[in-house]
Amino acid sequence: MNEFPVLEPGDGNIVLFHPHVPAGAAEAVQQVLESRWVGQGPRVAEFERRFAALVAPDHDALAVGSGTDALHLAYLLAGLAPGDEVIAPVFTCTATNIPFLYMGVKPVFADVQPRTLNMDPAHVRTLITPRTKAIVCVHYGGLPCDLDELHATAREHGLLFIEDAAHALGAAYKGRAVGGLSDFTMFSFQAIKLMTTGDGGMLMVRNPGLVEKAKRLRWFGIDRSAKQLGVWENDITEVGYKYQMTDLAAALGLAAMDEYASTLAKRQSLLEAYVRGFAGVPGIELIGAGHTDRTHAAWLCTVLVEDRVGLMRKLREHRIESGQVHYRNDRYSIFGGRQQGFANMDVLEDRYLVLPLHGKMDLGDVERVCSVVKSGW
Ligand SMILES: Cc1ncc(COP(=O)(O)O)c(C=O)c1O
Repeated sequence: MNEFPVLEPGDGNIVLFHPHVPAGAAEAVQQVLESRWVGQGPRVAEFERRFAALVAPDHDALAVGSGTDALHLAYLLAGLAPGDEVIAPVFTCTATNIPFLYMGVKPVFADVQPRTLNMDPAHVRTLITPRTKAIVCVHYGGLPCDLDELHATAREHGLLFIEDAAHALGAAYKGRAVGGLSDFTMFSFQAIKLMTTGDGGMLMVRNPGLVEKAKRLRWFGIDRSAKQLGVWENDITEVGYKYQMTDLAAALGLAAMDEYASTLAKRQSLLEAYVRGFAGVPGIELIGAGHTDRTHAAWLCTVLVEDRVGLMRKLREHRIESGQVHYRNDRYSIFGGRQQGFANMDVLEDRYLVLPLHGKMDLGDVERVCSVVKSGW
């Protein structure tokens, strides 16, 4: 039985997530509907150009149908093959790890750090074997991982490095935007992300030599621009799939780009209000706060508490949603089930809780959530 059925927005309810639809969205989509291109066309190309200019002008951006598509494409471009191992976070959306199962690749899970829920670089180092080919990290909630340490391990062992930045559009590490820091970086534009295209994703690729291949794999293995010239006699030599973004989705992305700075600033101000609201309060630790060398993209506000279900119940009595959002991936049979060796995850798995944070909230809503939490449960 679900003790916490979904709340509807309005009536003083504070819901956990709410999509941000930019002001120009309807008009932008209408223009596409009236044009020749509703599938992948000029808007996709324009969105890729503007997105790359925003996060990593020296990388190529490939728009795809979802963040999961972007990850799968990155793993293909990384040349992962059956029997390879990839070190990946135990605590993440299943989307980080499911593409490996399609490829016969083994995800080797790394534990979390207790203060960030990000991948623990010290644990990663212990997991390297001769079969390890890559490391994939997730910037949990929007706080960048310890990239210097993780990159150093990848460099030392000749591994490719992939960032799952589904939560981290707007994040920066040591003054540099997330998006241009690794071999591959993936972003998600799923419904509740900072920018949404309904569903969608972007893959940032460092090596320009891989871009044409990436475009082919995005479209069955076909060189789409050659085929559009009319007479096409090319073979298909690589197994691709249909990972592309549509112009309808890209129109939403372009409209979201116009509001990107204010959307991010709003989220960051809400997260800062949570940080202030919980400062010094015994029994509540806000995950990922207090870093001065990196910028938090403020996608999730996660706290550590005792008696999580008790707090969820108390919040719900006050018409406030909360939830776990992600679960340790070794709870799922598809990954082989429960494993040993995650000392931090074992302690934290019953303690983390995600609180509402989205553009429909204001500072008063955050104060209300904080005061309910502070009143005890
Ligand atoms: C950490 C992480 N990785 C990957 C994804 C998958 O992205 P998408 O839903 O756009 O496929 C998500 C979910 O949105 C996520 O939270």
